[in-house]
Amino acid sequence: MYEIKKAAVIGAGTMGLGIAGQLANAGVDVLLLDIPADGENRNANAERAIERLLDENQPGLTHKDNLSRITIGNVEDDMDKLAGADWIAEAIVERLELKKTLYKQIDAVRKPGSIVSSNTSTIPISLLVEGMPVAFREEFAITHFFNPVRYMRLLEIVRGENTKAEVIECLEAFNESRMGKGIVVCNDTPGFLGNRVGVFAIQTALHLAFEMGLSPEEADSIFGRPMGIPKTGVFGLYDLIGIDLMSDVAQSLVSILPKDDVFHDVSAEIPVMVKMIRKGHTGNKGTKGGFYRTLHGSNDRETLDFDSFSYRDFDESKPQVAIDAELAGDFTKLLATNDKYGQYAWEILSRTLCYAAELIPDVNESLVAVDDAMKLGYNWLQGPMEMIDAIGVDKFIARLEQEGRDTPAFVQTAAGKSFYRIDAGVLQYLLADGSFAELRRADGVTRFSETRRTMRPIAENAVASYFELPGEIGIVEWHSKANTLDGDSMDLLERAVAHASENFKGLIIHNDAQHFSCGVNLDGVLSFIRNEDWNGLDRFLGHFQQTVMAMRYSPIPVVAAPSGLSLGGGFEVVLHADRVIFHANSVTGLVESLVGVVPGGGGVKEMLYRWSEREGDVVKGAWQAFMNIGYGKTARSPLEAEALAMFRDGIDRYVMNRDRLLDSAIGLVQEISEDYSVEKRQALPMPGRDVWRDMKEWLEKAHSNGHLTPHDVTTGSQIAMIVTGGDVEAGTIMNEEDICALERKAFLTLAKTPQTRARVEHMLDHGSPLRN
Ligand code: NAI
Repeated sequence: MYEIKKAAVIGAGTMGLGIAGQLANAGVDVLLLDIPADGENRNANAERAIERLLDENQPGLTHKDNLSRITIGNVEDDMDKLAGADWIAEAIVERLELKKTLYKQIDAVRKPGSIVSSNTSTIPISLLVEGMPVAFREEFAITHFFNPVRYMRLLEIVRGENTKAEVIECLEAFNESRMGKGIVVCNDTPGFLGNRVGVFAIQTALHLAFEMGLSPEEADSIFGRPMGIPKTGVFGLYDLIGIDLMSDVAQSLVSILPKDDVFHDVSAEIPVMVKMIRKGHTGNKGTKGGFYRTLHGSNDRETLDFDSFSYRDFDESKPQVAIDAELAGDFTKLLATNDKYGQYAWEILSRTLCYAAELIPDVNESLVAVDDAMKLGYNWLQGPMEMIDAIGVDKFIARLEQEGRDTPAFVQTAAGKSFYRIDAGVLQYLLADGSFAELRRADGVTRFSETRRTMRPIAENAVASYFELPGEIGIVEWHSKANTLDGDSMDLLERAVAHASENFKGLIIHNDAQHFSCGVNLDGVLSFIRNEDWNGLDRFLGHFQQTVMAMRYSPIPVVAAPSGLSLGGGFEVVLHADRVIFHANSVTGLVESLVGVVPGGGGVKEMLYRWSEREGDVVKGAWQAFMNIGYGKTARSPLEAEALAMFRDGIDRYVMNRDRLLDSAIGLVQEISEDYSVEKRQALPMPGRDVWRDMKEWLEKAHSNGHLTPHDVTTGSQIAMIVTGGDVEAGTIMNEEDICALERKAFLTLAKTPQTRARVEHMLDHGSPLRN
């Protein structure tokens, strides 16, 4: 009976604007109110929020046009308008009295059957609704979003004593499918789940670093990617959030925890940090820097020296064990050494994993909820219980016992077993009573990282696997670091296309990693360049092109379902799928020019075809392809991608929840496989040498205006060569294979230049483009 069609958000701060933005992204009309501003423009507070929503660095909207769904106002003049909302989300400052006063005002105007929720991080629901009528309590819940709302996947929902089950069901269903969130239903306990464990881990890493005398670089080199958590680490994260703000978050969380909670052990103020805050070293937001700083106009980082309080060079060196663990994607390697780095890793992990395990079953009955909270709310690659499984439950217990430490009861329950297991092809998880239950997700939600555990691949190699899904559908999964592509990735795809064409109804290319694919493996490209193995490079490109063309012209539909980054070669594969289902935050683009090469896997050809069709003219199409590829343009959502011809309206689709990608792709294969047929594309009459010359003149002019570097001109003229056909008569007919051959020729020409080599090396060493 509850249904959300229109919404209102009160409080247009960081969280309120994020929630309003995501509602607009979901296609929902939303009213955004804040307190009235002094002066003539009473809506100035909400107006400022709108500006922040459009921030180029972190846009809260999937498309700026979504803004039209947001109406702004203030809580004095516009309260009546709340009567139109089915869901009113409160996100004002964390002050109980203010929230309670507001709820009375809301209750006076809201319509019966509307849902009210609070975004509070720390206030128990029982206190929020104290003194409110039962009808209000029945329709009230906590919906705790994470910042930034568009990108963070976790939503914690807390049910109050009186909240109706239908209210929770409605919030869950709406936020899961429309807002794209992974829902964790939490009990009304301090900090819920995500922050309780997440902030504990951060505080533990911080305190141990100071106790053990590790430098910020040393600590962050361990507590980061090698451990399967974001690379900001602990000191970097403090800088990012603000040292003062992050200290407040930790303090306010600790203040609501029971006295015997071990969180108190890692909550004491750290004298150096008190001094830093006093002296204005509060992190990235200030001008004085934090633990680190990057000087304006430079890429070089510096680190605060705690003795002299001046900055020194950032220490780039990393402990070998951190490098090994990150490369292998295996945090347990950190625990195999007993030096200070191994000790640091073990201390953080053992304390945090035990802390998380202690929460089961009293704080939450389900270990899946605890694992999901950390994966979706803190971007950990594995949840705490998954990490104990990776270490080995018995090994974990043995090391705790050897150190004379207590083993949490729930970990003891798992002794001799594991927290997750496969039984008769079904993924199960351990309950507190020692029995196992099937891990079931909502209808339409499937994480391939979970499904794959119950399957055996038809074929696999070190970087990719190929499986059969129910319904006679094949699926290719890449699993290299950042899912970069090499010969083996393409080899497996080629075999899968051939096999699926014979045996299945369709093929899906998907994975559940952070990024679908960050492009061709540059280490591989660089080794061809260093060895001057031009035949090898040409063969690699040819194989790539043949594979994506085989995919395009296979007798069965091929659906790509990407999320995260799909760049360069990764996006060239996507461009050759018959249909694509994107996640709403998918980032796409052909960025090869930044490393001084051209897309060599059919990407230039594909953009030339797409733009020519769109423009209805091959010369205009060539110019569009030339400009977009030359600038390495990227889109941060499928809606933005549409304008760049990287998303085809009416053919491709997108979903808000990335956990729905796979099911949507399966549905699409089933939908289109019945009457599927392929048509060979017509050859193109190429623009020819005059347009190529015009493009080169354009490049020279842009160079003399200071917009392009000399090597940008070289790269651009090669892109121009491909999209025009090069030194040929206008109207010369070329087919897809011909244009692919031009891509290879251009790629090789550029690869032989020292400037391209320097760009590739710079990208590998620094992760940023070189402007040469
Ligand atoms: P904020 O300080 O950025 O924004 C609060 C906004 O509420 C301000 O624009 C303020 O003018 C407005 N406001 C204050 N009293 C009001 C009233 N009576 N009526 C209408 N507007 C009013 O705060 P932020 O960070 O957005 O936090 C909002 C809520 O979300 C808090 O309960 C906080 O605990 C919670 N939260 C914050 C997170 C974060 O990362 N910032 C994460 C998750 C939850």
